[in-house]
Amino acid sequence: MVLQVRELKKYFGKTKAVDGISFALEEGQVIGLLGPNGAGKTTTLKCIAGLLRKDDGSVTIGGLDHRDDKARFRLAYIPEAPDIYDMLTVWEHMKFIALAYNLADWEQEAKALLERFDLIDKRTELGAHLSKGMKQKTSICCALLHHPDVLLFDEPLVGIDPRAMRQLKNAFFDLKADGKTLLISTHMLDTAQSLCDRVLVMKNGRLIAEGTVEELREQMKASADSTLEDLFLEVTADEQQ
Ligand SMILES: Nc1ncnc2c1ncn2[C@@H]1O[C@H](COP(=O)(O)OP(=O)(O)OP(=O)(O)O)[C@@H](O)[C@H]1O
Ligand SMILES: [Mg+2]
Repeated sequence: MVLQVRELKKYFGKTKAVDGISFALEEGQVIGLLGPNGAGKTTTLKCIAGLLRKDDGSVTIGGLDHRDDKARFRLAYIPEAPDIYDMLTVWEHMKFIALAYNLADWEQEAKALLERFDLIDKRTELGAHLSKGMKQKTSICCALLHHPDVLLFDEPLVGIDPRAMRQLKNAFFDLKADGKTLLISTHMLDTAQSLCDRVLVMKNGRLIAEGTVEELREQMKASADSTLEDLFLEVTADEQQ
């Protein structure tokens, strides 16, 4: 198991944003993290990435505690709203990451990444002058530069055009083919169904369902043609009663 989360808890005052969830990700899997607004998805991803201090539980990456430098090096977190510096160009963002991670010979890789995401022509453009989708793609290129094994994406498919969406989906498949492990929070259930090997469904800080679409159908005694959307609506509705 490349990522193991055990009894993770994060409370904000009385709000139990994450209330004791456990799951494990196998290497090379693409996992969808689903759940209604406020379910605790972003909080979970931020706790794993070490950007929020967890209240309880453990998170290990390749057996190491997630706060260990070696573990952090294996991980990348791509936030929902990309943290792009207004006064740095696209290329300077890559350089900044290379310096932060002390990467040697990163230029070739950076160039290849920018080409893959159609950003090469924007390499000298300032962050302030990028469109939302370009910022998103710059943030993804930055995240990939240090060759992380585990990638956490928070709502990566929002606000990008169809071409960028296709590039991103292709990038997900390439990353999977490279043996990377992806945990992707999304509300786009048809994409999740085609992209993910397995999904985790959260609600009110808890994990309420987990498995492949096939397994969810069996667990819920749903028909063989039910979609992930059908299953999601049913499983999240049941919990409300
Ligand atoms: N910094 C914070 N301070 C206080 N409460 C917070 C904070 N961040 C999140 N919460 C609360 O924690 C709960 C989970 O929020 P979270 O952002 O993790 O949900 P989410 O599943 O990512 O939702 P969405 O689908 O809307 O992105 C919500 O009730 C939210 O109000
Ligand atoms: Mg969120």
